[in-house]
Amino acid sequence: MHRIGVLTSGGDSPGMNAAVMAVAKAARYHGMSLIGIKRGYNGTLCKSHHIEDDMLELDLDTILDIADQPGTYLRTARCLEFHRPEMRVHAVNNIREMGIEGIVVIGGDGSYHGAMELCALGVPCVGIPGTIDNDLAYTEMTLGYDTAVNSCVDDIRAIRATSRSHDRPAVVEVMGRHCGDIALKAAAGSGAEICIVPEVNWSIQEVANRLSRLIDMGNPRATVVIAEGAWDAMHPMDWHRYLRENGCHVHDDDVMNTHFLSLMLKYKCKCEARPTVLGYTQRGRTPSAYDSWFAFEAGNLAVNLLENGIGNQVIGLKDGRVYYLPIGMALQQKREFNLQLYNLINTI
Ligand code: F6P
Repeated sequence: MHRIGVLTSGGDSPGMNAAVMAVAKAARYHGMSLIGIKRGYNGTLCKSHHIEDDMLELDLDTILDIADQPGTYLRTARCLEFHRPEMRVHAVNNIREMGIEGIVVIGGDGSYHGAMELCALGVPCVGIPGTIDNDLAYTEMTLGYDTAVNSCVDDIRAIRATSRSHDRPAVVEVMGRHCGDIALKAAAGSGAEICIVPEVNWSIQEVANRLSRLIDMGNPRATVVIAEGAWDAMHPMDWHRYLRENGCHVHDDDVMNTHFLSLMLKYKCKCEARPTVLGYTQRGRTPSAYDSWFAFEAGNLAVNLLENGIGNQVIGLKDGRVYYLPIGMALQQKREFNLQLYNLINTI
């Protein structure tokens, strides 16, 4: 191959820039030119007035020192138009016109589906799992997960310090749309006493019982870590009953959040629980050494595969080493939640 492309897609994750840098270095090593495709798959649709807003020549001189920077230099987006077959054909025409012979796609499972579609239309793609969520079963870690967990642990430790000073509990929400891995590892890493995840059914009453027991045991400053997606796993009767009993006539979505949980615990456990939503701080951090290392290994392997004419693959980590497998096989794998660790954290 003489020219390849690289894009970042979906939610940004720490390490995406390091992966782009690795792709640029590997491309230079193999004597290939590199095109940076902007704003995920949107760039392939070439809708901007200026071509550089969609696709731009990337060289080591252009991207200079981005490797340790958070966010993504190429920008990112979720591209709904790419779901339409005619738009994908349009994208392939643009890709061919630019002379791009293969693409490295850095993103999560949605981005992988897009890559598979491009492969089916004759554009070889290799995926790098860029998402903080760690929700892809085929890899031990996704790019950005380690940084996100470390970010949460730092913040939860700070919250625990002030909780300790005031002898009051904290409820901390971390990211993870359908996956409790960030919550689980952040809870273990920070010594939090209660962890709530989307993979395990839960109820507010059950959490309140646990917190009350901790308070009775002499720990009025326990931390509850909840994954943002955990509301989907809550027993619906729990909040329906609560709303009914209290004559609330608001829409469920308006109240089912971490502030509401904190309020409920306040009343049920007679304590001063305080909520914090960590939010995007987790995504915007400088990548950890581990994520930067993974980004470099993955970027290098992705370019090597394309150079050898091998597309339709994704890169992952197995036994601590980078490996690759077909996109379809990777997406079929079912995640296994670490229930043992979850039970251990929640043991009182
Ligand atoms: O997929 C990564 C993620 O950070 C999720 O944890 C979170 O639910 C989502 O992205 C938020 O995305 P957005 O940028 O659209 O708010």
